[in-house]
Amino acid sequence: MRFPLVVFSLGLGYFSFCISAPSSTIRTNHVIHEKRAVEPQALDWTISHRPEGHKRLPLRIGLTQQNVQNLEDMLMAISHPDSPEYGKHWTPQQVVDTFAPAEETVRKVVGWLKESGFSTEKIKMSANKGWLQIDASVAEVEELLNTEYHVYKHLETGEEQIGCHEYSVPAEIREHIDLIKPTVHFNYGPSPQSGTKFKRAGDLGQPSSSKFTGPKKSPNAKPVSPTLANCDEMITLDCLRALYSVPDFTPKSKNNSYGIVEFTPQAFLADDLDLFFGNFSPNLVGVRPDIVLIDGAVVQTTNQSFSLNGESSLDLEYAMGLTNPQTITLLQTGDLVEGAGFDNWLDAVDGSFCTFEGGDDPTQDGIYPDPLPGGFKGPESCGIIAPPFVVSTSYGQDEVTISAFSAIRQCTEYGKLGLMGTSILYSSGDRGVAGRDGCLNSTGQPVANGTMFSPQFPVTCPFVTAVGATQVNPNSTVFEPEGACEQVIFSGGGFSNIFSIPDYQKSAVSSFLKNHPPPYTSAQFNNSGISRGYPDLAANGANYVVAVDGGFELVFGTSCSSPVTGSFITMINDARLAAGKGPVGFINPAIYSDKFKDAFNDITMGGNQGCNTPGFTATEGWDPVTGVGTPNVSKLIPLFLSLP
Ligand SMILES: *[C@@H]1O[C@H](CO)[C@@H](O)[C@H](O)[C@H]1NC(C)=O
Ligand SMILES: *[C@@H]1O[C@H](CO)[C@@H](O)[C@H](O)[C@H]1NC(C)=O
Ligand SMILES: *[C@@H]1O[C@H](CO)[C@@H](O)[C@H](O)[C@H]1NC(C)=O
Ligand SMILES: *[C@@H]1O[C@H](CO)[C@@H](O)[C@H](O)[C@H]1NC(C)=O
Ligand SMILES: *[C@@H]1O[C@H](CO)[C@@H](O)[C@H](O)[C@H]1NC(C)=O
Ligand SMILES: *[C@@H]1O[C@H](CO)[C@@H](O)[C@H](O)[C@H]1NC(C)=O
Ligand SMILES: *[C@@H]1O[C@H](CO)[C@@H](O)[C@H](O)[C@H]1NC(C)=O
Repeated sequence: MRFPLVVFSLGLGYFSFCISAPSSTIRTNHVIHEKRAVEPQALDWTISHRPEGHKRLPLRIGLTQQNVQNLEDMLMAISHPDSPEYGKHWTPQQVVDTFAPAEETVRKVVGWLKESGFSTEKIKMSANKGWLQIDASVAEVEELLNTEYHVYKHLETGEEQIGCHEYSVPAEIREHIDLIKPTVHFNYGPSPQSGTKFKRAGDLGQPSSSKFTGPKKSPNAKPVSPTLANCDEMITLDCLRALYSVPDFTPKSKNNSYGIVEFTPQAFLADDLDLFFGNFSPNLVGVRPDIVLIDGAVVQTTNQSFSLNGESSLDLEYAMGLTNPQTITLLQTGDLVEGAGFDNWLDAVDGSFCTFEGGDDPTQDGIYPDPLPGGFKGPESCGIIAPPFVVSTSYGQDEVTISAFSAIRQCTEYGKLGLMGTSILYSSGDRGVAGRDGCLNSTGQPVANGTMFSPQFPVTCPFVTAVGATQVNPNSTVFEPEGACEQVIFSGGGFSNIFSIPDYQKSAVSSFLKNHPPPYTSAQFNNSGISRGYPDLAANGANYVVAVDGGFELVFGTSCSSPVTGSFITMINDARLAAGKGPVGFINPAIYSDKFKDAFNDITMGGNQGCNTPGFTATEGWDPVTGVGTPNVSKLIPLFLSLP
C-alpha cells in the first residue's frame, strides 16, 4: 500500500448534514443544466416505460469543486522534467482539501434542497466533500429537476437503464453544480477496444513439442515458436523487447504496482494464462494477478468466447509477461447485470466519486449504479485499494456519447490521480478517425454515413496518456522503423470537441497543423488549434499472439499497445523506486519535452483512415495517429532516473 489506509477512510464516510439555510430565498426560474447530446434510441436502446413515481431514486449531486482551473498547472509543476517540483506528488488529503467545494457552494445547494422540501436528515454529504446525496422518489426528483424519467431497454440484451433527456435547476444554483446523477448520463458500457478485432490463428506456428512446456488444454492449443524473423506476422514478448530496446528486467524495488482494468463480463481464464506462459514465460505458469473485485464484480468463466476473454487474456498475458515477476493488480469492475462505467474503477481507487459509505446506512443500499432490479445491491466499492502507480485501461467510448460536464468531471479525477503519482493509460481506439458508432453528421450525431470524425473518450482527457497503435510493416523486421497500424485496425487519433489543448502539447500540435496541414476542414475535425490532440504516444498493436479459450489467436488493437506501454512505465518506476525516488506519475509533460525527444522512435509511415477518408497521416514529429512515436525503453529509463 502506498498510502496509509486511514487517509482513505477519512475521505469516505458520509455524515448527516446540518445547516440552517436561508428560507427566504425566492424560487426563481429553472434553467436547463444538462441535455443529452445523443439519444440512446440512436444506439440500439428503446424507451420501455415510465418508472413508478414512488420508486426510490438515489440522487447524487456533484458540487462544483474549487481550484479545478488550476489543476493543469499543479500537474505540470510536479510532472514537467524542467520543474524544480518534479516528482513531489500529493497526499490524498491534500487533494481533498484543494478541490473541496466552496462553503458557499454547499450552503446554496443544500438551501435549495431544503426549500424544495427535503429534510436535513435526507441530505448527506460525502466526506471527500464532492457530492451531496438525497434519498428521493422518482416523483420528487422529477419535480425538483423539472424533468421526466424513462426506463430504457437495450434492443438486444434487454438490459435496462433509467434516465431523462434533460434537467433543470434554478439559475442561481447552476454555477454550483457540475452534474446530477442519474439523469442524462447514459452508460453505454465501456467496450473493449479489441472486442471484434482478431484473426483466428488457425495453424499458427510450428509445433515444437520439445520446447513446449505448457499444458495442452485443447486440440487447437498448438504451441507457437516464432522468432524475431517473423515479428511482422506474429508479435510476441521477444518481438516487443527487441522493438523497444527493453533491457533485461529484474525488479529491484519493493512496493511497485501495476493495475489493469477489465469490465465484467470480460474475464480471463487461468488455463489461457498458463498456455501462454508455458510457451513464452515458463516461470509464470501458475501465477495469477492479484484480483480486486469492484462493485460486485466476478471473473466469470461460465460463458467463454473471444469477445468475453480476448481483452483480459491479451492484457494480462503481455503485462505479466513483460514485467515478470511484478505482481499485476486486476481491477475487475462491475457485476454481471448492470456492468459498470469508468467512474466505478475510479471510485475504487480513490473514492473521488463515492457518494456514500455503503452498508452503514440501510436506506442507501442499491445505489450502485442505478436502482433497477437484478443488479448488485452491495455497498459501492469506494477507495478499497490505493491507486496502483500505473493503470492501463483498454476500453473507451465515443466522446459524443458523454455529456461535457460528465467528461470534465471524470477527467478531473484522472488529473487528481496524476497529482498523487499514478500514470493513467487508455488505448486510443481502433477505428482511426471514426467512432465506435460511426462518424458524425453535421449536427454532431453518430450516424452510419456521417462525414465528421468522431473522437474518443477518455483519451481526449488531457490528464490521461493516450496510446495509439503501430505495426511492423509487412516483410519488415523489428530492426526497421514501424508504421502506423494499418492491419485489421487503425490507430484512434484526432482532436477533442470538449477539451482544450493542454500546455504540454501546444508546440507539438501547432507544428503539426502548420507543417503538415491535414487536407480537411472544420467540417471533418476540430481544426481550431485549441483542442486537445491524441494519441500521445504509440506502441505495436498488430498480430499479437494471445492464448484465448484454449488456443492461440492473433489479436490487433490499441488494446495491445496500452498494457505494453504500461509495462514499460512499470519498469521505469522500478528503477526510480529502487533509487529511492517516487513513481513517474503523469508522463505527458515529460514525453513532449525536448529532453525526451530522442527517447522515442518517430513514426512517419501510415495513417488512420476512417469516415471514408485516409484519416490523418503519420509524419515527422507528433501526429494524431502515433503521437510522439514509440518508446525506446533503454533511453527512457536513464532519462526518468535522472529526474528528481
Ligand atoms: C512497502 O510496503 C510495506 C508493506 O505495506 C511497508 O511496510 C513499507 O514501508 C513499504 N516500503 C516503502 C519503501 O514504501
Ligand atoms: C451465459 O450466457 C447465457 C446465454 O446467453 C446467459 O443467460 C447467462 O446469463 C450467461 N452467464 C454469464 C455468467 O454470463
Ligand atoms: C443527425 O442525426 C440525428 C440522429 O439520426 C438526426 O436526428 C439529425 O436530424 C441529423 N442531422 C442532420 C443535419 O441530418
Ligand atoms: C445519410 O443518410 C440519411 C438517411 O438515409 C440521408 O437522409 C442523408 O442525406 C445521408 N447523408 C449523407 C451525407 O449521405
Ligand atoms: C512480402 O513478401 C512476399 C514474399 O516475398 C510477397 O509475396 C508480398 O507481396 C510482400 N508483401 C509486401 C506488402 O510487400
Ligand atoms: C473545438 O474544440 C474547442 C476546444 O476544445 C471547443 O471549445 C470547440 O467547441 C470545439 N468545436 C466544435 C465544433 O466542437
Ligand atoms: C534505443 O536506444 C539504445 C540505447 O541508446 C540504442 O542502442 C538503440 O539503437 C535505440 N533503438 C532504436 C530503435 O533506435
